[in-house]
This record gives sequence, structure tokens and C-alpha cells, in this order.
Amino acid sequence: MNSIGSLFRVHIFGESHGQVVGITIDGCPAGIALSEDDFARDIERRKAGAAGTTPRKEEDLPQIMSGVFNGNTTGAPITILFANNNTRSTDYEALRNTPRPGHADFVLHHKFKGFNDYRGGGHSSGRLTLCLVAAGVVAKKILQGISIEATLTEAGGETNIEAAIAKAIETQDSIGGIVSCTVKGLPIGLGEPFFDSAESVISHLVFAIPAIKGIEFGAGFAATKMKGSEHNDAIADAKGTTQTNHAGGINGGITNGNELHFRIAVKPTSSTPQAQQTWNNATQQVETFTVKGRHDLCIALRVPVVAEAAAAIALADLLLISKAYL
Ligand SMILES: Cc1cc2nc3c(=O)[nH]c(=O)nc-3n(C[C@H](O)[C@H](O)[C@H](O)COP(=O)(O)O)c2cc1C
Repeated sequence: MNSIGSLFRVHIFGESHGQVVGITIDGCPAGIALSEDDFARDIERRKAGAAGTTPRKEEDLPQIMSGVFNGNTTGAPITILFANNNTRSTDYEALRNTPRPGHADFVLHHKFKGFNDYRGGGHSSGRLTLCLVAAGVVAKKILQGISIEATLTEAGGETNIEAAIAKAIETQDSIGGIVSCTVKGLPIGLGEPFFDSAESVISHLVFAIPAIKGIEFGAGFAATKMKGSEHNDAIADAKGTTQTNHAGGINGGITNGNELHFRIAVKPTSSTPQAQQTWNNATQQVETFTVKGRHDLCIALRVPVVAEAAAAIALADLLLISKAYL
């Protein structure tokens, strides 16, 4: 449902135009230094403001409501809230009858019998990724000596991101992108052989990010075109260092001590400025309409830090599990 994790467990809540969005983290070890300032850098990286992102600007100031005392985590659940101050809910009135193709409006209306908060995508809004980023900051603190870095490597099919964004702005149509993530310094042994393989746990978190449509580890889909002799990563020493890294740092669902690499596909924003067709529930016919509201033209621009957070949450959980076994 809205919780994930075995030992490092996060519970996400809130709606885009409700009072707050937030996260509760259960299972964070005691004694980790944590203050509101620790969140600033990653939150800033997720913020809108750059060309191709939404004009909706929020302060995104974290309020730590519990689980921290005298500057350290206490071992009790940590709840972090973010106020929604810059909402313009009237933009979304039309969505009650004309669900946006590609967005969650239609399925949410059916699944929750029309009781869902439709304003700004409600609980399915990209705004909730702010909470993932906050949990990621805490998770990164657990992953001492391990670095996670994600970057946008492609937008709209081009590696020149600026040019791709300029083109999207000029043509007024949304675009997608590819985000690459690398984790360095991982020990051998995180992940379990079957259901909780490192790939499964990371993917579960990654697919919680709205608008993600694919993930690949290492050579990924390209592996299907390689021979075994090409794809196998030759083991070069007793530590398991490999000469190549087509596996992306995971064998048998378990981290192998090399860099962990994954790439994720971010779809073009469904709320494109272009006219679209949809079913109008009030008039009971297909109509041409244009999405109102303030939207990211390229969601992928804001995803790297969210992908890092997803990886950090997954790996912090797997690290705590591996320590619990020792
Ligand atoms: C950081 C971020 C910002 C987003 N901003 C928008 C937006 O402005 N407009 C929009 O239609 N979708 C936006 N989305 C994507 C929607 O939330 C998502 O497409 C929708 O919930 C449907 O889910 P799905 O695409 O995974 O099927 C954003 C996603 C993220 C991660």
C-alpha cells in the first residue's frame, strides 16, 4: 500500500493540494545526527525553477515532528512534514469530468469511487517524491562510506539536455528522459537470492516514483544481444573486482562489491500543453481538451535526486538486514 521496507520502513502520505505531504520512517537506528539543514541540498536539487519544470514553487521546508532529540535520531519513528502553500486547485475542477490521458485521474476515480482528491493528482502527484527525497537523506546517512549519484543522461532522445528542453519549450510538447544511477562503495552481500534480490528491492522503490516506465541494471536489455563470453564479467582478484561490469554490480540478486549501475526510463509528462482527446463523463462523449494547471514539461529533469533516494532507501534496508544476520 503506502509503506515499504523490512527494517528501514517508510510510510508516505499526503496530497498535492492537501495541507501537507510527509513521510514516517520506522526502524532508523538511534544516534544518527539529523537536523532540518541536512535536507537542504537534496531538496534544492528536486525543486522546480529550471527551464522545462513547473512554475509551481514551494518552499519545501522540512518539519521534523518526531524521532529526533538533541540533534540525534532516537530510534523512534521519524515523521517529516512539508506544507503545501502554493496550490491553485481551481485549475483541476475540469479533471472531475475529463480525466487526463496518461495520468492517474481515470483509474483513481474508478478505484476510489470518485472519493479521491483529484486536485493536482492528489496522492499520486509527483509532489510526494519530495517525501522520498527526505527519506533518502536519512537513508544516505545509514549508508556510511557509500556514495550514490544519479544524473540525467538523455532527454527527448538527445544527450544534449539543454537543446532537448529548448526544443520542447519551442514545440510546446512534453518529453521524457533517461536517468543513470551509480552506487560506489557497496559491500559484497546486500540482497537475498529470491524475492528480495537487490534488483527487486531497488526496482520496487524506483517504480514508486510516478512516471517511471522502465529500469535496467548494467548492460540490461543490451545483454540479449551479447554472447555469454562477452557479457560475463571476468573476476580479476580475491575481492571480486571484475574487469567489466555488465552485471551492474549484482549477481544472483546479491551485490558483488563492484559499482552498482542502473538506468531508468522517465516518460513524457502526461499533462502536455498539446490538445488531447479524452472521455467527458458529463457530456458522455469523446472531446478535445487542453490540460490546465502548472506542469513540468520534462519530469526527468527533477528525477535524478529522487532516483538516488529510491536507491538509498532500498540499500539502507538491505544493509540493516545484512547486519541483523551477522
Ligand atoms: C518530480 C515529478 C514531477 C511530476 N510532475 C508532473 C506534472 O507536472 N504533470 C503531470 O501530469 N505529471 C507529473 N508527474 C508524473 C505524474 O505524477 C504521473 O505521471 C502520474 O501520477 C501517473 O503515474 P504513471 O505515469 O506512473 O502511470 C511528475 C512526476 C515526478 C516524479
